[in-house]
Amino acid sequence: MDRRDSHDKGKNKMPEHIAIMMDGNGRWAIKKNKARKYGHIEGGKVLREIIKTTDELGIKYLTVFAFSTENWHRPKEEVDNLLKMLLWYLGNEKEQAIQNNMRIRVLGDRGKLSEELQIKIHEIEEETKKCEGLNFQIAINYGGRDDLLRAFKNMYIDLIDNRIDIDAVDENVISNYLDTSDIPDPDLFIRTGGEQRISNFLLWQFAYTEFAYSDTLWPDLKKEEFINIVHSFCDRDRRFGKIIDSVE
Ligand code: FPP
Repeated sequence: MDRRDSHDKGKNKMPEHIAIMMDGNGRWAIKKNKARKYGHIEGGKVLREIIKTTDELGIKYLTVFAFSTENWHRPKEEVDNLLKMLLWYLGNEKEQAIQNNMRIRVLGDRGKLSEELQIKIHEIEEETKKCEGLNFQIAINYGGRDDLLRAFKNMYIDLIDNRIDIDAVDENVISNYLDTSDIPDPDLFIRTGGEQRISNFLLWQFAYTEFAYSDTLWPDLKKEEFINIVHSFCDRDRRFGKIIDSVE
């Protein structure tokens, strides 16, 4: 199946999958004369509200960028704080996720994460895998280029071991080697914090994603602004390279 067949096309359709870069936590904290970690803590609270709203809007997939392959270059204290927060979240969110019928998955190279974090990831993925409500993906130690690199390496191994045929390799085969293999490509990418770049997020998956940028720092994002962004997506024409009349 063409992965785009499952997407909404044309005007006035809700997105099926929203990807978010929750940018501006550090600046939010500094503006308030607080340590950057308070921005991440406050950001975590806002994320809860956005998850709830996404679910209420009937959107099936939400993916957030929590820790990138480049974030290791931040000061050790901030890296440790962020990873500790994620460990805490994964450990504490399981029951609530199951209650809310929310499936949680983690994207990224988990092999480089602590054993403790890998165990929590495994547990939450296993225990929520039958949940059929919102699919919530957290990107941890994720990089778009790293996702492609790991995919190409794994595909190469399958090619030399004759598990796949080079003539059968098409875009869908490549998609299936990515961390997002059974997740539709995002329809809408939202980045807060005023920056307008992809920052190595879902490079392959963003081929036909609509982008929305907000100057609001993530911890200041209100449900109303989020809903407005989603509604403004609904007014866009998505042509997928075609002429508007020929979009089916
Ligand atoms: C970018 O802001 C944000 C991050 C690198 C981390 C986002 C993490 C959270 C909101 C924590 C909660 C997440 C989960 C899944 C529980 P920044 O630090 O780059 O901000 P700045 O641009 O103002 O410096």
